[in-house]
Amino acid sequence: MKASAPGKIILFGEHAVVYGRPALAVPVTQVHADVEILDSNSTGIWIHAPDINLHSELNALPSDHPIASVIHNFLFISRQSPSPIHAERSGSEVEAGSRAWGERGFPNLNIKISSSIPVASGLGSGAAVTVALLRALSSHLNYPMTDEEVNAFAYDIEKIHHGTPSGIDNTVVAYAKPVYFVKGQLIETFKVGRPFTIVIGDTGISAPTKESVADVRKLWEADRAKWEGVFDNVGEIARHAKEKIETGDWKLLGGLMNHNHELLQEMMVSSPELDSLVEAARKAGAAGAKLSGGGRGGNMIALAEAEKADDISSALISAGAKNTIVTQIS
Ligand code: PMV
Repeated sequence: MKASAPGKIILFGEHAVVYGRPALAVPVTQVHADVEILDSNSTGIWIHAPDINLHSELNALPSDHPIASVIHNFLFISRQSPSPIHAERSGSEVEAGSRAWGERGFPNLNIKISSSIPVASGLGSGAAVTVALLRALSSHLNYPMTDEEVNAFAYDIEKIHHGTPSGIDNTVVAYAKPVYFVKGQLIETFKVGRPFTIVIGDTGISAPTKESVADVRKLWEADRAKWEGVFDNVGEIARHAKEKIETGDWKLLGGLMNHNHELLQEMMVSSPELDSLVEAARKAGAAGAKLSGGGRGGNMIALAEAEKADDISSALISAGAKNTIVTQIS
């Protein structure tokens, strides 16, 4: 059984979103995580993830390993109860199917995982691997899950590995839709009035989101009044941006991106490399640019007229970007 999940990029609102302010993010389908599961003749659950040089039986991995924790948790829930989707259906045939492997004991599987999403770069690689793996397991072991269930499961996994995540990554990746995200609220998608182009530039520096989120928390703890005000400003930017995207006034997003980048600099989550890519994009004609995601490394984004995207992309490479992706938001 095969399953895939896209990468994602945050357009506005990272970090402040952890404190309940809205953020906007969109799927990036040019990069994805892919999982294939086959029954195996050898005993055990074998995981092959050549990108990270991982070839191991499940039980040889620490139980909190990101991939192992998805499989353990899935086996646990699917063994405990029939799938909620199965339970809703009256056909006992389907329900029997969902229990069959549980009575046989653990299945013997070969799981192949690959991903074109750079790790720890703000493109949602962890959430994409979790979602693709979960969907492949759920199909292969006949335990259907809704998008809501996949999303809730992926959020629990994010919490194990990222401390206090807002849940934006797993939500965009699980639904594969543009999302106006507010922590703890029902998922809200948004319409794109007129398509626009984003150039994504990768610093090539991997920077764990957990650390930048923890550092912002220290700032906030030291002066809550000040940082609540900064987060309010970021939230306003995200709200305005949603309006502009919906009405098709995307050119006005440039100024909002620049302002959002300044506020992220104030939070001390930018870096000299991110700042120089942001600067290079603006000089090459971008309407605006900002870092995207946890910061300190990873990716930045630039808003471009479609015909300027290639020039901006070349300018980013000349300024040191390791890779660029041009994506249309529509
Ligand atoms: O996973 P990243 O690096 O795209 O960043 C996630 C965005 C943060 O707001 C920094 C953290 C979060 O949990 O929302």
